[in-house]
Amino acid sequence: MPFDSNMASLAPWLGIALALATTGAHAAKLDHAPYGTTKDGKQVEIYTLTNDHGVVVKFLSYGGIITEINAPDRQGQVADIVLGFRTLEEYETNSAKVYFGALIGRYANRIGQARFTLEGQEYKLAANNGPNSLHGGNVGFDKQVWQVEPLRMSDGVGATLSLTSPNGQEGFPGTLTVRATYTLTNDNALRITYEAQTDKDTVLNLTNHSYFNLAGNGSGTVEDQILTINADRFTPTDATLIPTGELTPVAGTPMDFRTATPIGARLRSSFQALVYAHGYDHNWVLNKPSPGALSFAARAYEPRSGRVLDCYTTEPGVQVYTSNFLDGSLVGSAGRTYRQTDAFTLETQHFPDSPNKPQFPTTELKAGQTFRSETVFRFATDSPFPQVNP
Ligand code: GLA
Repeated sequence: MPFDSNMASLAPWLGIALALATTGAHAAKLDHAPYGTTKDGKQVEIYTLTNDHGVVVKFLSYGGIITEINAPDRQGQVADIVLGFRTLEEYETNSAKVYFGALIGRYANRIGQARFTLEGQEYKLAANNGPNSLHGGNVGFDKQVWQVEPLRMSDGVGATLSLTSPNGQEGFPGTLTVRATYTLTNDNALRITYEAQTDKDTVLNLTNHSYFNLAGNGSGTVEDQILTINADRFTPTDATLIPTGELTPVAGTPMDFRTATPIGARLRSSFQALVYAHGYDHNWVLNKPSPGALSFAARAYEPRSGRVLDCYTTEPGVQVYTSNFLDGSLVGSAGRTYRQTDAFTLETQHFPDSPNKPQFPTTELKAGQTFRSETVFRFATDSPFPQVNP
């Protein structure tokens, strides 16, 4: 149930704090404060979610960007485990390259040749990634200021971010209303739910583009972090990363993460898919008990800190990307440059280019229907969840 949003409007410059629970050492709370002004003059706020155990998630109204996730290691030492920047200006300047932490839409990932046909009509999109459309085009959801409404939940603290994308924006049909809800639960999970409705049939693929490094943002490569992906198959692509349409078994290939394997173990293999993508940047076809079920997608484990990240989703796929395009030219929020393999993403999603691949699970949203999806990132350690050190 939304908390009284008038309260928030009464105190926009002061920030607010809601004490929601006092069972742990840290009372769950939600704060917000001014963060900056966009180049075109829009005010942006930063929101801080803190749960009973002292796990902290920060996000911006700009792009719904998750700027920090502070999670303890097995000793209770907290580190920020996502890549980010220090200023709004850096997010605005670089989002088109890296999409750190952002909500992605209308269509996360690629649409081949930047066009698709829906009910006999062809729609043309901006080709912003070679010949293809990537992550919603030139001004995707990652570059828009969302309206944020704090929420009081029985199991944690959260906020709903919403926006309306006008008919024809970035070439997509239909007026689309989107709501994404971030909830930090008291069992140490960040739950992201998405809802969308359109007034005209359209296509849609929503995700969050956080880059994780479980040893800490800016600490170097994730090659020794250990990944499990609950997928027997992946979607191979052409050289521009558009799926061929096949679902190929991972067995016997460097794409096989069905048992826990260091990310770097096979990263430099000459396997064609890895050569095309300069590393991992692929969609895995998740094994699911039934289509749309919230089920286990992936686990990452960092042996030195003991941090564990589990990902569950209702989506049929996950894009794992080993930050192949980070080239040392960007300085991140930890004051250090980011390079290839300094992070991995778990972009839960429908498959790339689904609007042009009738054999893939559909990304069509019909007028009057409601799209719903859910992804959960659960933070843990390899020993009982520790008391967070202040
Ligand atoms: C996704 C894509 C990558 C890259 C990043 C952003 O993960 O699949 O190819 O575009 O986003 O840099």
